[in-house]
Amino acid sequence: MFLFLLQCLVIIAEQPISGYQHHYPPHHSLQTDRAALLAFKKTISSDPYSVLSNWNEVTQVCNFTGVRCNTKRHRVTKLILRNAELVGMLSPLIANLTRLRVLKLVNNNFSGIIPPEFSSLQHLSLLWLEGEQFGRPDTRFLLSSYQTCLREIPTEIGNCPGIWNLALYNNQLTGEIPFSIINASLMFNLDVEYNHLKGELPSEIAANLPELLYLHLSYNNMVSHDNNSNLVPFFTALKNCTILDELELAGMELGGKLPSSIGQLVGSLTSLLLQENRIAGSIPPTLVNLTRLTVLNLTYNFLSGTIPAEISQLSYLEQLFLSHNFFTGSIPVAMGQFRHLGLLDLSNNRLSGEIPKSLGDLIQLNFMFLNHNLLTGAIPPSLGQCEDLSKLDLSYNNLTGNIPPEITSLREIRIFLNLSNNHLEGTLPIELSKLENVQEIDLSSNNLTGIVFPQISSCIALRLINLSHNFLRGQLPETLGDLKNLEAFDVSGNLLSGTIPTSLNKIHTLTFLNLSCNNFAGTIPSGGIFDSVTNLSFLHNWELCGSVPGIPSCHRKNNFFHVRAYLITFFIVIFVTVFIAAICCVIGCRRLKTIISVGNVETETKSPPELIHNFPRITYKELSEATGGFDEQRLVGSGSYGRVYKGILPDGTPVAVKVLHLQTGNSTKSFIRECQVLKRIRHRNLIRIITACSLPDFKALVLPYMANGSLDSRLYPHSGTSLASGSSDLSLIQRVNICSDIAEGMAYLHHHSPVRVIHCDLKPSNVLLNDDMTALVADFGIARLVMTAGAGNAGVVENMGSSTANMLCGSIGYIAPGTDFSFLLI
Ligand SMILES: *[C@@H]1O[C@H](CO)[C@@H](O)[C@H](O)[C@H]1NC(C)=O
Ligand SMILES: *[C@@H]1O[C@H](CO)[C@@H](O)[C@H](O)[C@H]1NC(C)=O
Ligand SMILES: *[C@@H]1O[C@H](CO)[C@@H](O)[C@H](O)[C@H]1NC(C)=O
Ligand SMILES: *[C@@H]1O[C@H](CO)[C@@H](O)[C@H](O)[C@H]1NC(C)=O
Ligand SMILES: *[C@@H]1O[C@H](CO)[C@@H](O)[C@H](O)[C@H]1NC(C)=O
Ligand SMILES: *[C@@H]1O[C@H](CO)[C@@H](O)[C@H](O)[C@H]1NC(C)=O
Ligand SMILES: *[C@@H]1O[C@H](CO)[C@@H](O)[C@H](O)[C@H]1NC(C)=O
Ligand SMILES: *[C@@H]1O[C@H](CO)[C@@H](O)[C@H](O)[C@H]1NC(C)=O
Ligand SMILES: *[C@@H]1O[C@H](CO)[C@@H](O)[C@H](O)[C@H]1NC(C)=O
Ligand SMILES: *[C@@H]1O[C@H](CO)[C@@H](O)[C@H](O)[C@H]1NC(C)=O
Ligand SMILES: *[C@@H]1O[C@H](CO)[C@@H](O)[C@H](O)[C@H]1NC(C)=O
Ligand SMILES: *[C@@H]1O[C@H](CO)[C@@H](O)[C@H](O)[C@H]1NC(C)=O
Repeated sequence: MFLFLLQCLVIIAEQPISGYQHHYPPHHSLQTDRAALLAFKKTISSDPYSVLSNWNEVTQVCNFTGVRCNTKRHRVTKLILRNAELVGMLSPLIANLTRLRVLKLVNNNFSGIIPPEFSSLQHLSLLWLEGEQFGRPDTRFLLSSYQTCLREIPTEIGNCPGIWNLALYNNQLTGEIPFSIINASLMFNLDVEYNHLKGELPSEIAANLPELLYLHLSYNNMVSHDNNSNLVPFFTALKNCTILDELELAGMELGGKLPSSIGQLVGSLTSLLLQENRIAGSIPPTLVNLTRLTVLNLTYNFLSGTIPAEISQLSYLEQLFLSHNFFTGSIPVAMGQFRHLGLLDLSNNRLSGEIPKSLGDLIQLNFMFLNHNLLTGAIPPSLGQCEDLSKLDLSYNNLTGNIPPEITSLREIRIFLNLSNNHLEGTLPIELSKLENVQEIDLSSNNLTGIVFPQISSCIALRLINLSHNFLRGQLPETLGDLKNLEAFDVSGNLLSGTIPTSLNKIHTLTFLNLSCNNFAGTIPSGGIFDSVTNLSFLHNWELCGSVPGIPSCHRKNNFFHVRAYLITFFIVIFVTVFIAAICCVIGCRRLKTIISVGNVETETKSPPELIHNFPRITYKELSEATGGFDEQRLVGSGSYGRVYKGILPDGTPVAVKVLHLQTGNSTKSFIRECQVLKRIRHRNLIRIITACSLPDFKALVLPYMANGSLDSRLYPHSGTSLASGSSDLSLIQRVNICSDIAEGMAYLHHHSPVRVIHCDLKPSNVLLNDDMTALVADFGIARLVMTAGAGNAGVVENMGSSTANMLCGSIGYIAPGTDFSFLLI
């Protein structure tokens, strides 16, 4: 705006100002202007862009780069050289351009002095020498005859009463602003910022330049009156500047108090910049008279007292900087009344109390800085109404309570959210994930709990996450890897555990990582950021290992041994437990069995009819009919104890009838009893005895018929009498299952059956396979039957189970070839 205005004024300046119209002196012409410009060119030592290359004897003067003539092309009126990086000094002969109205040298490297000969430029209205080095001694210049000249604004400038725009900012000028400048009574812009000008604030000059619109004196070495202690004279003098719009006095270490006379600058001032001074005292209530103020900057002063609530009457205020002072008391509730406030900086004061809810009414606010105060209480949820916020800094206060979920109405928040160094509690609100535009979130040094939720990855613009020094728990989500713009990630000083998410190595922008002081475990991932970090990123995580220098490395071998040792221990424990359990079980069962079997035997002996009743009765005749009269055609097998025939009972049940060889005299009674006992043995891997038939010279067992025959026939399928045996069709799985079935059946016989039975004749031909290939052990207890039948000595039978001598009964004599079932697994 300001520059635009100046441009307009430059255009205006091109037009002759009636008050300063002169007749051209006849001896002055374009030729003298050419001579002056060529002399100007001679003092330029460097012209990197050759902007002055057409400044020669041939080209028309008015066509010289940067040169403008009046409409009749009689005379040179403007010389404008911007950003040409010309190095050299400003020739005094430029004073021969007597019709010059605008001299604008911006961002070159002119040095030396502003030649006093300017005073002859009666028509000069705009002198704009910005970003030059005027005031800096030029070595060549010092050798010249001008070496005694001051590097100051020449007093002779007062001879140019037409100057209305004097812009000398960003030079190296020293000395005071010459009082003669008041001759330029039309001066509207006096801008001497960023020089080394000295002396008291130019109160007299200001008082005599009533047309001043802009007075920019910032960043010089001026002081206030009375040995830098009194601002009153200056502000009083400004009373005459009734249209003053911008007053800038920043960065000068000005002392004194803000006078109440500031209220006299009534009605015109829009910008008051007094930052970086030593202004003490409080804000005078008369400040509210500056009703048109849009920018008030009092940052970095020694101001104290409370912030007057009246300040809120500055209804046009757009930027309010009060930070880095000593303001106390609370933030006035009335502050919510600003209608156009875009920036509120109250940081670095001693403000206490709660954040007023009314701040939520500042709906145009872009920046809110309340950090570094003594504010207490909760964050008002109403702040969520400030939807245009792009920076919110509430850090370094004593704020308590939860982070209000409403804060996430700040969806547009683009730059940062800083709530760090407070006493905020509660979980990390999941609503934070709605802040899609926020670039930096700093919630560090609070009392926040809960987890880092995976939805954080929705905040795709995030460049910095600082959640350090809280009480966050759990595992970091893998989704962090989706934050493609992340540059810094700090979760140090929490209670986080689990492994470090590998996905972090996908973020190419990540350059800072701090996971220190947590309970992370496992291996530090590799790739990406993990290849460049040092152990400083992982301090105090005792369970971490990896290839980062300073972190214990995860020796794979050690780890493997560790795991193996662990597994071995595990299995030993399991084994021992099972073993002990088995022993207990065996002992327990044995006791139980003896009790039961003793009881049973007693009941059996006492009531045999009952038991017989449990047996389906079958007669020799029926058996004979079922087997076709023990037809050789029906013979399905024979063994040491007898022959087996296939038969069909009258009810259609297929059965196997085992007819026992009997050696000597027999006892039907004891045979039946043994059958009774054996019949009680029920196990899915033992052939069930359906019934028995006992005659003095004929004893047979009726068993279920097994369709798949014996294991022997499956292992060695014969074709007729030929010894050329075909190969077995049993799969490995089937073989394993068969082994397991046999073992289970035997284990039952040995340990769990009501009577102890030693098979004595276990061999493939005694293992039968049913329809679904389950193996059933047959012929167990035959030895008992034969013995009882043969010896007729019940006493022997009774003792058989408990006699260790009998444990090997039959084994030696009857071990059949192939009884070693390991062949099943070949
Ligand atoms: C500048 O003007 C003066 C008279 O006003 C004249 O004597 C002098 O030669 C001029 N110098 C140049 C370089 O034109
Ligand atoms: C000077 O500029 C004008 C208009 O820009 C042009 O018409 C004229 O030819 C130029 N003269 C020379 C000598 O370059
Ligand atoms: C301008 O001049 C100063 C001193 O003469 C020198 O230090 C500086 O580098 C120059 N700047 C440029 C851009 O040439
Ligand atoms: C101010 O201008 C008047 C005439 O316009 C002149 O006499 C006087 O010397 C000038 N003052 C200074 C300080 O140059
Ligand atoms: C203010 O300006 C008036 C004339 O406009 C002048 O008489 C008066 O002295 C000036 N005040 C100061 C403090 O210079
Ligand atoms: C100005 O103040 C400084 C310190 O603030 C002091 O040393 C100096 O004597 C004072 N000068 C006068 C003239 O009071
Ligand atoms: C400035 O404000 C004060 C009160 O703060 C008031 O008394 C005074 O009249 C105001 N001055 C002007 C010129 O309005
Ligand atoms: C206000 O002062 C601060 C501190 O010097 C500065 O950073 C900021 O840019 C100033 N604002 C304006 C608008 O001058
Ligand atoms: C703010 O917190 C600090 C540290 O916890 C404490 O010393 C101070 O007294 C608190 N101030 C207020 C106003 O609560
Ligand atoms: C708050 O956090 C933001 C973003 O990280 C940072 O730019 C700002 O300087 C922090 N504020 C303070 C007072 O440290
Ligand atoms: C995070 O915050 C802590 C404490 O508030 C601070 O010490 C640390 O430097 C911050 N980390 C980053 C990366 O800004
Ligand atoms: C925050 O945590 C600190 C440290 O554990 C504790 O001293 C303090 O009382 C907690 N503050 C609140 C408000 O919970």
